[in-house]
Amino acid sequence: MEFSLHPGGTISGEARVPGDKSISHRSIMLGSLAEGETRVRGFLEGEDALATLKAFRAMGVDIQRPAEGEVVIQGVGLKGLSAPAAPLDLGNSGTSIRLMSGLLAGQAFDTELSGDASLCSRPMGRVITPLTQMGARISGGEGQRPPLRIAGGSSLTGIHYELPMASAQVKSCVLLAGLYADGRTSVTEPAVTRDHTERMLRGFGYDVQRDAAGVISLEGGGSLHGCEIDIPADISSAAFFMVAASIAPGSDLLLTHVGMNPTRTGIVELLRMMGADITVQDETEVGGEPVADLHIRSASLRGIEIPEALIPLAIDEFPVLFVAAACAEGRTVLRGAEELRVKESDRIAAMAEGLATLGVTTEVLEDGIVIDGFGDGGSFGGGTVHSYHDHRIAMSFAVAALRAGDRVVVSEADNVATSFPGFDALARGLGLQISVKNPSDD
Ligand code: S3P
Repeated sequence: MEFSLHPGGTISGEARVPGDKSISHRSIMLGSLAEGETRVRGFLEGEDALATLKAFRAMGVDIQRPAEGEVVIQGVGLKGLSAPAAPLDLGNSGTSIRLMSGLLAGQAFDTELSGDASLCSRPMGRVITPLTQMGARISGGEGQRPPLRIAGGSSLTGIHYELPMASAQVKSCVLLAGLYADGRTSVTEPAVTRDHTERMLRGFGYDVQRDAAGVISLEGGGSLHGCEIDIPADISSAAFFMVAASIAPGSDLLLTHVGMNPTRTGIVELLRMMGADITVQDETEVGGEPVADLHIRSASLRGIEIPEALIPLAIDEFPVLFVAAACAEGRTVLRGAEELRVKESDRIAAMAEGLATLGVTTEVLEDGIVIDGFGDGGSFGGGTVHSYHDHRIAMSFAVAALRAGDRVVVSEADNVATSFPGFDALARGLGLQISVKNPSDD
């Protein structure tokens, strides 16, 4: 599947993008492990979150989807899962495999976790190491990549783990294993990462502490209590339109009910540092997560040095931020972002290649990139860019077409539905001149 984009356009109107992916995954996991019923609204019907949902159904959990965005889970309790009949296929989803490896390490039965070619090339040593320290028996394939095999019946013991990288997935994996461990499990992180696991555990009535030194901890052996969860729109999906409206002259856009958890708002901060015109309005809180409407008008952007502390708070938004940087006046410098190389694709390499195709030369660093923007008078060229089956790369280059001088084609856009089902229709409604083509149609 590929996107074909006419150059130019203006972004205007109002939209609510689909539900938060991170929160959607966690709602299924914790709802399944809780006592009693959990009702979820605003659930992301994307392939990644659905992979988690199917995996819990395969472990005997009754999960109903009565209407779009609604999920009702009959929790089975921490010890109530049953052995799946086959290996669990988690598709493209790193969040599913890393979080589930933690909670499956504490089960009485064996499991095998696998996924697509992209997932099977991603590093899992980062979860194998702490889980092994806790007493889990878990192994990966070559180079500690999926498939992961987890032996049941291990007794886990709480540990203190200093995360070697800023990763919410690893933090969450260790904390979820900690639910099954004897004693206390604690983690420290080198930089603050998204805290949805901690917030949602508290929402299910589980005590999670965070002390003044940043140590996050919980005691094993408690229980979770079913609850109601209202999932906000995903700020990572909203980011494509924040950049779109910022770079397309004459744009005026309202994005509603966007999740504004402070561990996720790096993109708003970075775009504002670049001169973007973003107003945050109608701030409220739903189910322990801050939410607001964002009003974005086009603006002249300038290049910036990206502060390292903001990297984990905007980790999924860098592909589209690079598009903004290319449209900005002057130089943008990113360093300390080696994690971008082990996402659904190597996002530094994939973005540098696509930007080069569209006429923007960058300097690629091992842990980042330097982008000299063309500024208000300039534009991208046209061409065909590879998205390497990475949803966020594909959507980023679709947005770039707003400032292109010629047609842009984005190939391998098939995985966009992992995080943003309906992206092309929503984008079209707001002014992006996008059509979807299946190359086999030719
Ligand atoms: C996620 C954490 C991030 C992010 C991913 C979702 C999560 O990964 O990139 O899309 O839901 O915990 P890392 O924790 O590996 O940085």
